[in-house]
Amino acid sequence: MKIQIINGPNLNLLGIREPGVYGTSSFEDYLQELAKIYSDIEISYYQSNVEGELINKIHETGFSYDGIILNAGAYTHTSIAIYDAIKSVKTPVIEVHISNVHTRESFRRQSMIAGACKGVIAGFGMDSYRLAIEAIKNTTLC
Ligand code: DQA
Repeated sequence: MKIQIINGPNLNLLGIREPGVYGTSSFEDYLQELAKIYSDIEISYYQSNVEGELINKIHETGFSYDGIILNAGAYTHTSIAIYDAIKSVKTPVIEVHISNVHTRESFRRQSMIAGACKGVIAGFGMDSYRLAIEAIKNTTLC
């Protein structure tokens, strides 16, 4: 099984950025934990602050991977182009957020991309990514 994790803008600063909201672990450290738990799964990771590069990665992996876990960061709330990219590929995409976007500023309550995604996981800290892997595993089995 092959899973692509894609993180959008400002998520390269996890561990440094607003630790009260996003925690103190870098994504690279968390990724090592995930790789240990899921040694039977090929997990690829990509991060970009550039909207078009996120779209390119969705296109690149969206026909050959079993699942894409996408934290589009603030583009979640603005990007019709990412919505269209998700719609354009075959691989199921799970929208993920570290924070519970529904308990924060009102502009975070709207997702432009959720309607194109298989499902949404938010509010479980970094564990949101592991829960998304579980969801992809279960979906692929049935
Ligand atoms: C986020 C929530 C978004 O609203 C925000 O812009 C982010 C991170 C999260 O993981 O909680 O950059 O996607």
